[in-house]
Amino acid sequence: MTNPVRASNTPFAVKVEQGKDYWWCACGQSKKQPFCDGTHKGSTFSPIKYSPDVSKEVHFCGCKGTGSQPLCDGSHKNPV
Ligand code: FES
Repeated sequence: MTNPVRASNTPFAVKVEQGKDYWWCACGQSKKQPFCDGTHKGSTFSPIKYSPDVSKEVHFCGCKGTGSQPLCDGSHKNPV
């Protein structure tokens, strides 16, 4: 596995809480999108930690092609 799998064509809206850590799936293979479930083990991918400064709703990248991991930057609108 050298390229991430496109898990979704749209981002995942999630209400995150200040003080909690979130582990975003970078490989796209997790069954618990947008978060890591350990499926990446044995690949070149590692999950990305996200620790919000405030409680709010964020949009985690689902296409795994974002340039601002782990959040959506609109890259899902680009052709595959
Ligand atoms: Fe995708 Fe862990 S399952 S990074």
